[in-house]
Amino acid sequence: MSTKKLLILAGDGIGPEVMAQVRRVIDWMAKKRHIAFDVSEGLIGGASYDKFGHPLTDETMQDAFAADAVLLGAVGGPKWDNLSFDVKPERGLLRLRKDLELFANLRPAFVFDALAEASSLKTDLVKGLDIMIVRELTGGVYFGQPRGIETLPNGERRGVNTQVYTTSEIVRIADVAFDLAKKRGNKVHSVEKANVMESGVLWREEVQKLHDAKYPSVELQHMYADNCAMQLVRAPKQFDVIVTDNLFGDILSDCAAMLTGSLGMLPSASLGAADAKGNRRAVYEPVHGSAPDIAGKDIANPLATLLSFAMMLRYSFDMRAEADLLEQAVKNVLDGGLRTGDIMQAGKAKVSTTVMGESIVREMDKLAG
Ligand SMILES: NC(=O)c1ccc[n+]([C@@H]2O[C@H](COP(=O)([O-])OP(=O)(O)OC[C@H]3O[C@@H](n4cnc5c(N)ncnc54)[C@H](O)[C@@H]3O)[C@@H](O)[C@H]2O)c1
Repeated sequence: MSTKKLLILAGDGIGPEVMAQVRRVIDWMAKKRHIAFDVSEGLIGGASYDKFGHPLTDETMQDAFAADAVLLGAVGGPKWDNLSFDVKPERGLLRLRKDLELFANLRPAFVFDALAEASSLKTDLVKGLDIMIVRELTGGVYFGQPRGIETLPNGERRGVNTQVYTTSEIVRIADVAFDLAKKRGNKVHSVEKANVMESGVLWREEVQKLHDAKYPSVELQHMYADNCAMQLVRAPKQFDVIVTDNLFGDILSDCAAMLTGSLGMLPSASLGAADAKGNRRAVYEPVHGSAPDIAGKDIANPLATLLSFAMMLRYSFDMRAEADLLEQAVKNVLDGGLRTGDIMQAGKAKVSTTVMGESIVREMDKLAG
């Protein structure tokens, strides 16, 4: 039996409902694969505020440090909208990411054949799409100094933000991207605006240097961010791994996400620095929020959270066979015609959150023989 320490923070709204489906998969793995996760649960967001008066307590933060990986549901909702800024549910999430120093955000854009028609692009452009966007998360123009709004002597106002990257910030994010590419399609597009920004010139030079020194066998192409946006909607299948900064990554990852159709299908991971054994701090979470409009109704799509768990198996625990199994089960269940409301199509069977979760586990059972 191998034991992996996993902290589950289900959060608010649909968080607990979708997380309950992950528990089914964890139970299945313990029973059928003898993989025992050491699972603990904690509160975050509004749920934590209601109990402790704070969206993330020091104790929960300690649990996160002690865990091999954290799986998060979602935080927030109208109940807590009028709280002061420092105790809003989202502050809990920001603290978690900041204290764990998660600098790499991984956003896959993967199209299941059964859902290819739901994309805003033509089916043949997105069928088989499998992109990973690696976004730098803790530097760049969102954090650079100087920043602010000032009033000039002539009475005009001026807003300032500063795009700034250091060598080490660029190298560590590029390292994540090259490493991922080796486990995928062996291709990296590094995206910046070296034509008009010095920080982009540095980005390009450092990525190239790291490539030549450590990853010469990975195919590397440099691309300007505006061209990348265009290529993503023109011919998205040319990409494998895209690595880019905080600002461009924010925009390009949302753009790539919509190629896949639904928010309820999108997983993500945020990774920190590797320790001596090569293990990285990591938080896995669906891209969607707490969906208060559908919370408590057993109709939310649990697949984004289940796919986030699959990413955890693959990237934190190196359990590729189990990750493949779970992803294949999702694919088969979709091929079989089951849909939650958000991905419903004519002629398919609409099912609840619970039935979707049960069906995935049943499919894993079948696949595992
Ligand atoms: N990472 C996070 O925890 C996170 C991210 C985004 C928003 N939020 C918070 O969530 C709350 C709601 O925000 P929002 O409405 O802008 O975004 P949202 O992602 O919660 O919902 C947007 C729309 O998508 C639907 N949706 C989302 N996930 C779904 C799923 N799994 N299955 C079916 N339908 C789904 C919702 O019903 C809603 O109509 C806010 O308090 C916001 O701050 C949290």
